Amino acid sequence: MAIHIHSKAEIDKMRATGRLAAQVLEFIEPFVKPGVTTDELDRRCHDFIVEHDAIPAPLNYKGFPRSICTSINEVVCHGIPGSRTLAEGDIINIDITTILHGFHGDTSEMFLVGEVSDRARALVDVTRRSMWLGIKEVAPRKRIGDIGAAIQDFAQGEHGYGVVEAFCGHGIGRVFHTAPQIAHTGRRGTGMRMKPGMTFTIEPMINEGTHECKILDDGWTAVTLDGRLSAQTEHTILVTEDGYEVLTMRDNAFSM
Ligand code: MF3
Ligand code: CO
Ligand code: CO
Repeated sequence: MAIHIHSKAEIDKMRATGRLAAQVLEFIEPFVKPGVTTDELDRRCHDFIVEHDAIPAPLNYKGFPRSICTSINEVVCHGIPGSRTLAEGDIINIDITTILHGFHGDTSEMFLVGEVSDRARALVDVTRRSMWLGIKEVAPRKRIGDIGAAIQDFAQGEHGYGVVEAFCGHGIGRVFHTAPQIAHTGRRGTGMRMKPGMTFTIEPMINEGTHECKILDDGWTAVTLDGRLSAQTEHTILVTEDGYEVLTMRDNAFSM
């Protein structure tokens, strides 16, 4: 499948939607506190996105019933906001995808609710670092497999965590999920070569224990097979002439 190379004008639109998605995470952070429901986080993000003349991409996407994904503790991804109340010690991923002027921006972050365990904090730290090690592999003529290899070597090789294989990063632009698929495991020197103007996400899901997942009866919520913790962070990336640009970067966000 051919990979779309974005024009200058399209790149400007990807920058705008990426910036908005990042702003949603900045906006919601102060509300991620013990006692809040995930429905309230969803409603606040939904309203913020709509007020900025954009559309929350998850809403009604393949039947998804809410505007954001909220994935707590053992939830790997695609958690559905609802009546669940956040409690001290939870870790939660909030995943935002905006559609602005027809283009998608996709980013997620982990939030620590109150004081969390040392093992939860360590998992989140390694997840963020693994994503950044993957991002740093992005450059023209390098290969997609270099990204997954960097993530896996660190998260699994150095830390012994499970790297989820059932869900991948993805090409993104006018379409939410398109080629190329960006695996978070792999071998260097394999896969397609990157080219300037490609845009895709890097969004590793890192598990404390087994990499294996199962889907709950709601048809969406992916959880770890062993019930142990999972963490994820995500950015939308542009391949530039000499490396990469993180389209969903925020001031004060962790970076490497
Ligand atoms: N934002 C998710 C991703 O990173 C996809 C969510 S699709 C939904 O690709 F339908 F679950 F919302
Ligand atoms: Co994504
Ligand atoms: Co996402």
